[in-house]
Amino acid sequence: MSTQSRRHLLTGGSALLLGACSRPAPAQAEAALAGLKQLAPFPLGVAAMTGQLGDPQFVDLLVRNFSQLTPEWEMKMEAILKADGDFDFARADALADFAANHSLRLHGHTLIWYAETPVAFERLSGSGQAFADAYRTYILRVAGRYRGRVVGWDVVNEAINEDGEGERDCLWSRNLGPDYAALAFGYAREADPDAPLFLNDYFLETMPNKRRSFLRLAERLLKSGAPLSGVATQTHVSIHIKPGSIKAAIRDLASLGLPLHLSELDVSTRNAEAIAGALDMASLADRLAHQARVVEEAAEAFAALPAHQQYAFTLWGLRDKDSWLRRPPNAGDGSDRPLLFDDAGRPKPAARALLDTLAR
Ligand code: G3I
Repeated sequence: MSTQSRRHLLTGGSALLLGACSRPAPAQAEAALAGLKQLAPFPLGVAAMTGQLGDPQFVDLLVRNFSQLTPEWEMKMEAILKADGDFDFARADALADFAANHSLRLHGHTLIWYAETPVAFERLSGSGQAFADAYRTYILRVAGRYRGRVVGWDVVNEAINEDGEGERDCLWSRNLGPDYAALAFGYAREADPDAPLFLNDYFLETMPNKRRSFLRLAERLLKSGAPLSGVATQTHVSIHIKPGSIKAAIRDLASLGLPLHLSELDVSTRNAEAIAGALDMASLADRLAHQARVVEEAAEAFAALPAHQQYAFTLWGLRDKDSWLRRPPNAGDGSDRPLLFDDAGRPKPAARALLDTLAR
């Protein structure tokens, strides 16, 4: 969407939409968020699950505001690979069909993840060629099935160690060596010649050493000729994040010149007594205002990227109550409000901060 047409949308196209610096009445603000995606010059993504698709409010809010969908878990091994090694695509197909039926781009998440080691692979561990063959078959079958339906894949998820130093030891590295990631990218490209293939990880904003390790892996993959074609930073952060950290991370990650996916944004609002120097934000209003500033920083940094590097700006859930941070084992006291829309689907200050940033 051109700047002129975005400006028109804001002023002429619909008087209800927020002006760049207007503060409309609540009703107008509600209407103004009738279409975040209309203002975004890049795809706005959101995570969703099949269990949410029967909720009309969820579907309406998602379709009006977002242009891309990431299956929260249904395209992972845990949902697809059965204990006997057979494949069950029912859940993944349901989300792929939903995306197609609502003209949403579909982002594939995720083919290989240290955290998902289903029985069918554990059973083959140590078997040498049988394991290697099953690994290739899995990636070819899953990526092949959604060829032409996904706009990109997280091929390898969270390959860097928790402490940010070096690459994880995992089922895949133990059976295939450190080149398991390069192999995964090669098989994904074999299955889908066109989809951008991403390396995805978290805490790249708050752990510079992890960001360095991530970039080292990305550079190693590129040097080896692996078809890595995008980098993704999950951006699971909190209101206590140091201002400028997200901008610094996006600047560093963009230095490879590849498309960048801000892939799983949520901003926890829990007061973090345990975090040294954490702001003591007792009031919810203070915490939501801080959350809006964090979202604004992320949106500004992403919007400043060259267009060819703006793959998508994705929220890890729609309404606060849809968040993984409100479900066991992460729910805590159930008070977190990490997303753009509240439990009732109303836009929060963070949603308005995103809209204002997109409308600049
Ligand atoms: O709702 C189903 C239920 O119907 C089914 O019977 C049951 C069977 O196990 O599963 C339930 O689904 C659970 C789903 O969350 C919805 O609550 C899955 O078990 C559970 O594994 C799944 O957890 C997801 C987790 O990844 C593991 O896949 C979370 O939703 C999801 O938010 C989380 O997302 C990860 C990203 O993939 C990678 N980055 C970190 C992020 C947060 O951990």
